Amino acid sequence: MTALDIRPLGPNIGAEVYGIDLAHELPDETIAAIRAAWLEHLVLFFPGQSLTPETQLAFATRFGTTTEAHPVEKSKADNEKIHAIDSIKDRTDFWHTDVTFMAEPPSASMLYAVQLPPVGGDTMWTSTRAAYERLAKPLQRFCTELTAIHYSEYYAQVVASGGGQSWNGKPVTEMPPVEHPVVRIHPETERPNLFVNPGFTVGIKDFPAAQGHAFLKVLYDHMIRPEFVCVTGGPRERSPSGTTAPRCTTASSTTAKTAGSCTA
Ligand SMILES: [Fe+2]
Repeated sequence: MTALDIRPLGPNIGAEVYGIDLAHELPDETIAAIRAAWLEHLVLFFPGQSLTPETQLAFATRFGTTTEAHPVEKSKADNEKIHAIDSIKDRTDFWHTDVTFMAEPPSASMLYAVQLPPVGGDTMWTSTRAAYERLAKPLQRFCTELTAIHYSEYYAQVVASGGGQSWNGKPVTEMPPVEHPVVRIHPETERPNLFVNPGFTVGIKDFPAAQGHAFLKVLYDHMIRPEFVCVTGGPRERSPSGTTAPRCTTASSTTAKTAGSCTA
């Protein structure tokens, strides 16, 4: 087995991975090494890959049971687990964690950049784990007592008009608000992270709306401090690349790009 060449992008989040071809079936120990790097760095970038939807999905499946691509956005016609994103028309330039408006969000998303603009096309990723760990201790304790409300008015309206897809094998026919703890413990690392995001968290349970919004803003301003953020995904060499990011991150695209993705 070729040793993985893992190059961290900073102390808190992000690493590039070289010396690997994701289009080929990889031995279990290589997958285990990628998983360990992923849990440490939270988002991994694989520059210079050449994937088809089939090989991308095969790679994603090594990390868990793959979900449908999205509960509302339409999948590729020939594969319900792949969603083609066109940033010219899709909403991507806002901070969000994928699909937290569902009771069971995916544990990860796997992106593959197909077409990039001459400049830009990057995605910003922030470590909600580092953000939690750097909160003042009284604020950490306070957050562990809180439950957040997650909801997407936009997607709920699409679903209400019959535009739902399916999720975890069930048709999506309604999309009520759901609750998630503000602090979640990662099941593998057992490290806590802040599980709120400006895209889909609409309030704090039992808080008046204004107080909930004000407190969430305190957390959001903290979560996107520069030391918690890495900016990449539009690779420097402008070639296709893969990205995988788990539940301890939020992301925001900086400029238009086109990507295929699947969730795992
Ligand atoms: Fe996303």
